[in-house]
Amino acid sequence: MSSLFDSLSRMSRLLVTGAAGFIGSNFVHHVIAHTDHTVTVLDKLTYAGNEASLAGLPAERVRLVVGDIADASVVDPLVAEADVVVHYAAESHNDNSLHDPRPFLDTNIIGTYTLLEAARQHDVRFHHISTDEVYGDLELDDPSRFTESTPYNPSSPYSSTKAGSDLLVRAWVRSFGVRATISNCSNNYGPYQHVEKFIPRQITNVLRGIRPKLYGTGENVRDWIHADDHSSAVLTILDKGEIGETYLIGADGEKDNKSVVELILQIAGQPTDAYDLVTDRPGHDLRYAIDSTKLRTELGWTPTYGDFESGLAATMDWYRDNEAWWAPSKDGVEEFYASKGQ
Ligand code: NAD
Ligand code: DAU
Repeated sequence: MSSLFDSLSRMSRLLVTGAAGFIGSNFVHHVIAHTDHTVTVLDKLTYAGNEASLAGLPAERVRLVVGDIADASVVDPLVAEADVVVHYAAESHNDNSLHDPRPFLDTNIIGTYTLLEAARQHDVRFHHISTDEVYGDLELDDPSRFTESTPYNPSSPYSSTKAGSDLLVRAWVRSFGVRATISNCSNNYGPYQHVEKFIPRQITNVLRGIRPKLYGTGENVRDWIHADDHSSAVLTILDKGEIGETYLIGADGEKDNKSVVELILQIAGQPTDAYDLVTDRPGHDLRYAIDSTKLRTELGWTPTYGDFESGLAATMDWYRDNEAWWAPSKDGVEEFYASKGQ
């Protein structure tokens, strides 16, 4: 039986799933910069995965394996040779899940199950990356925030499959003694985020001379955290987290969508009302808000990005300077949204 605290050794072998995506690639860059660990990335390179997000990493410490987390013949030998699995891979976009839920079940549920079975078989430490969306939403005027004991109440096919994957992890801990932790994080922003997502979509719209698009009235609230802070939190949990525990990750970044669009327009030097209100997302969650007291007090983590405006301005600079990274996806994404009146 393992100890409750199961710290990584100084040079551990990490298997990081989904690390050609937005947050997973940020984590790999963070690990290489701040630790001596080596990393194997397992990624299917779906439309959301981009090998270019891993460019510049040292080949002697980072290896990419292209494969599906739902394929046990790929997963099993990779888990067997790892000291820890950090599981980011997912179908991650709510709007896509409303259009075609099936891949969300295949990857988020069956993929997580496949990884858990391998972690169980080989007794490998497992960290599951999840979302605050498993808790559903809060009213705009509700002073409360999500905590680790908030009941699960997911709204969309995406968030329900993430909730299902969290519950699988909890069951594999309880029933099979898998050494796992879970983190549920709020909305991330920063470089390398796919242009389907809210902030990159609006930034790249502005760069292309297209008006930003706000769903509904734009009053929905998201709790923004920079992806760098998410990565440092995950590393903290790997080092100090207690097996079987869940940690909420957030940086007190609540903003309504309209304010975010106005800030993007202001930073770009454009009139702050130069946006369109478009068809709302069905079942659109009103507000997310994270109370990360447990992570801060028990594990000593603090975020470093205190100022959303400067983090956003730096993110806008990155998209301006890296058009080659996002341009190939932009037209297809806008066609998809246009077909839905968004
Ligand atoms: P993303 O869509 O940018 O990246 C997902 C990655 O997973 C891609 O590289 C894709 O190729 C890969 N992938 C998808 N299906 C796969 C499969 N079957 N096998 C192997 N690889 C596969 O997503 P993201 O925004 O970086 O999110 C990563 C994780 O973080 C997800 O689990 C998501 O639920 C969670 N999360 C995201 C946010 C956010 O704001 N983006 C917040 C909290 C939690
Ligand atoms: O809370 C964590 C979650 O954050 C993660 O689990 C998801 O993987 C991630 O995609 C994100 O989910 P959201 O649905 O909150 O993010 P999205 O970027 O799609 O939308 C953010 C908000 O902006 C949401 O209220 C919908 C709105 N929106 C989105 C788009 C794409 C718009 O108003 N206009 C848009 O064009």
